[in-house]
Amino acid sequence: MTVADKRQKACQKLLADVHAITAKEGITPSALHAIKLKVMALAAKTDLFPMDAFEMPVSQGRNHPLLVEDDDGHGLYLTINMPGKEAAPHDHGIWCVNAAISGRERNEFFRRVDDGSRPGHAEVVKVGEVLVEQGNGMAMADHDIHSTVVVGDEPAIGLALYGYALARFPSVVWYHPQFASIRAGASRRHAA
Ligand SMILES: [Fe+2]
Repeated sequence: MTVADKRQKACQKLLADVHAITAKEGITPSALHAIKLKVMALAAKTDLFPMDAFEMPVSQGRNHPLLVEDDDGHGLYLTINMPGKEAAPHDHGIWCVNAAISGRERNEFFRRVDDGSRPGHAEVVKVGEVLVEQGNGMAMADHDIHSTVVVGDEPAIGLALYGYALARFPSVVWYHPQFASIRAGASRRHAA
């Protein structure tokens, strides 16, 4: 069996395991934790992800689809983000789980503390931080808020599993704490 075949089989096994977990308990904090452990276990099999099989980003980052389910299924990607790449606090509107293959990405987590009654206005406070590096990962529920930055001088390479494929992603909502502002991006929920 080629490495590509082995990788495909391992990705299919991961998604089967994920469905077995969520069929039993839905998307709960404990289900997300269990899924995170599964994604971390796959990311640890670095021989399945030889870097010559995945093109480097042209600029800051790139997502390589590994297994994208039909219809409204999940999407599993290999992500490559270059040193210094950062993203302001945002909420994907859908759960996600990341695990590192190599490199380091710092994730900071935020909680919204205003009542959402003023359009364009939002206040967030930092509630935690995780360094996603080899042997580590992170999980977020549908409306958790995180910011990211690739630290060090190596690209951050990892696995990312999203509740919906990126081509069918909901609106990503961006928060700018220094301006106490909020802005929603376009939804792709009806695109595919
Ligand atoms: Fe994100």
